[in-house]
Amino acid sequence: MPEYEKYISLVRDITSQYISPPLAYIHSYGCRQNVSDGEKIAGMLSLMGYGLTSDENAADIILLNTCAVRENAETRVFGNIGALKHLKEQKSGLIIGLCGCMAQEKHVVEKLRQSYSYVELVFGTFALRELPKLLYDVLCGRKTVTDTNEYPADFCEDVPVVRGCSYKADVPIMFGCNKFCTYCIVPYVRGREHSREPEKIISEIRGLVGDGCREIMLLGQNVDSYKAEISFPELLRRINDIDGDFRVRFMSPHPRDATPELMDTILGCRKICNTIHLPLQSGSDRILRAMNRGYTSDDFMKLVRYVRDKDPDFSITTDIIVGFPNESEEDFEATLDILKQVRFDNIYSFIYSKRVGTRAAMMEDSITDEEKSVRFRRMLELQREISTEHYKRFVGRTMRVLFENESRRDGYIGGKSDESVIVEAKGSTDNIGQFRDVKITAAHNWAVDGEIV
Ligand code: SAH
Ligand code: SF4
Ligand code: F3S
Repeated sequence: MPEYEKYISLVRDITSQYISPPLAYIHSYGCRQNVSDGEKIAGMLSLMGYGLTSDENAADIILLNTCAVRENAETRVFGNIGALKHLKEQKSGLIIGLCGCMAQEKHVVEKLRQSYSYVELVFGTFALRELPKLLYDVLCGRKTVTDTNEYPADFCEDVPVVRGCSYKADVPIMFGCNKFCTYCIVPYVRGREHSREPEKIISEIRGLVGDGCREIMLLGQNVDSYKAEISFPELLRRINDIDGDFRVRFMSPHPRDATPELMDTILGCRKICNTIHLPLQSGSDRILRAMNRGYTSDDFMKLVRYVRDKDPDFSITTDIIVGFPNESEEDFEATLDILKQVRFDNIYSFIYSKRVGTRAAMMEDSITDEEKSVRFRRMLELQREISTEHYKRFVGRTMRVLFENESRRDGYIGGKSDESVIVEAKGSTDNIGQFRDVKITAAHNWAVDGEIV
């Protein structure tokens, strides 16, 4: 019997002696990849006899599946760990664990060891499959079990996935990053790029669609760097050929690997949504070079023009970092300029955060925090105007929407169109999880209103 299965069964022997099944609380921070890992962790814990709870106070094991991408993400996690101390004091059998990207950072593991000794289980992004063994060790009374080894790539394809939703599913197709942008911690905490075999991906998606899933999100830190015996565009074409009523998105592609062929594939495949989240980071070529992004603002604009010439409504969103070390006013204005040219549907913007171990962390920086905050607000203000204006193009049109939730407005439900636009309409919750055609009647800042046809 493989080690993994042996330990699953050893832990189950222990949990089966409890009067009622022990409960696990898992909180995944950060990106969808991390959430997806969290769904596998939940799957393993179920195999080991745990039930799942959304109430920390009821839990026998609390796992914080963490993100390291920016400093405030880490601060939040340490705050939460601090707040758990009293729970541990009340309930000595409670196991508190930290996993995910922060667990791959040496300084974090050291800080846990010194100041948060009640965190007894620590495992990194490479060690998912080790969880049964590590948990068994903790249950047998070993104090502070840590595994931050870099094991060979493992998609844990045999592990059951406990999904949060029946009509939407995340499907990892690759992980890791070979790009080493100078500001970014991801290559250090997720390792190099590895891609899943296409047959495994296709068969997982077939199963999901057969179970009634309506939206598949393909995941990867650089999803378009997917490289197996087939290319990413070819994978998309094969997924598009799967029978069923579903749509496909993917995140996050890297502009360096986003080719005209990829754009033509999206445009040519009915089930692949005409939308892309393409992180630009900066509009200044000097800053893009210092970031090691591997493209110029002109390369980016060429790709945007290529796709918008073929479909003027093609929806594009992006990520922008404000305040990279020594970003001048001129550099910043180049970013504002490109925002005006591209007219993104939406942007996700972040103030630069220094990450220990990255090249940018060593760069001198003459720009004050105050100045960065002012720029950040200026950018949001500009983008708010662009988004509002840009969304008006949908008024009067009919869009296909997958409804997902009740709105805060009474009697309204919300969802996303194929173009990734947030749509709200009056309607019953019976529509949730279904595609509906919606006639758009009004545009707001970040969303539109409509009527179900
Ligand atoms: N692989 C994707 C991005 C993954 S990280 C890509 O290359 O496009 C998600 C986003 O977090 C990035 O696009 C970037 O905008 C932001 N980010 C990453 N590191 C950051 C840092 N040190 N400070 C601020 N934002 C950062
Ligand atoms: Fe980070 Fe750059 Fe890799 Fe994206 S491509 S994960 S920003 S290093
Ligand atoms: Fe954060 Fe790790 Fe994702 S650092 S953004 S959770 S890959």
